[in-house]
Amino acid sequence: MDYGMQNRLSRIIKPKDGKTVMLAVDHGYFMGPTAGLENIKKSISPLLEYADSLMLTRGILRTQINPEIDIPVVLRVSGGTSILKDDLSDEDITVSMEDAVRLNVCAVALSVFIGSSNEKQGIINLSKLVDKGNKYGIPVLAVTAVGREMARDARYLSLAVRIAAETGASIVKTYYCEDFNRVIETCPVPVVVAGGKKTGELEALKLAYNAVKHGAAGVDMGRNIFQSEKPINMIKAVKEVVHGGISPEDAYGKIYNI
Ligand code: R5P
Repeated sequence: MDYGMQNRLSRIIKPKDGKTVMLAVDHGYFMGPTAGLENIKKSISPLLEYADSLMLTRGILRTQINPEIDIPVVLRVSGGTSILKDDLSDEDITVSMEDAVRLNVCAVALSVFIGSSNEKQGIINLSKLVDKGNKYGIPVLAVTAVGREMARDARYLSLAVRIAAETGASIVKTYYCEDFNRVIETCPVPVVVAGGKKTGELEALKLAYNAVKHGAAGVDMGRNIFQSEKPINMIKAVKEVVHGGISPEDAYGKIYNI
């Protein structure tokens, strides 16, 4: 792997422990003003110092993030649909690699919808993005998006994750599931897990803990952080679980100073 690619990956997944806490705030690319992100600058500014990297769109990066802030950026570069549509899988590449380079990002992210009506389009988009990323030394994070009708089980997720890795993704983001070690054991690149819909803080911390325990490189978590009543304490707790290995119960206690 060349220097640029390796250096960018090292800024996302911390070499000291091979783990990362990515703060995901890219939901608006198909969900519009997502709860908790209506005033995105106000909600996420206090969280940035605790995140290992920030996943977002170029529109938000350009307008809402101070370029003097030193935070590795994972840029969402796929889109083309919205929650008003039944089928969310009809995505394409929405940002050129040249613009990603201009924005000085550490990785680009694209969703693939394995098993959907647009499966082939997603895989081909991923392969094109990997080709472009290789040219410039920019790693690609593949998001294994799950359609409403798809099962989030180890059989499906290991298939989706492996296809993303085989296509050339440097990191794959997926969902935690029962028998998660099957997903990890069959994937040759680091895997991070999404937080998913807002749950209780303890549940989200348990998800992070179990994912890492079974081999994930960390989390790419959004709603369970920025929709928490105590988002700063929550991201700190997630970091303690992912990097510090503390129990979800102990981390939860720290959020509310129990
Ligand atoms: C999907 O909208 C995005 O890729 C999010 O970044 C991803 O789902 C992670 O965010 P959350 O933890 O809210 O699921």
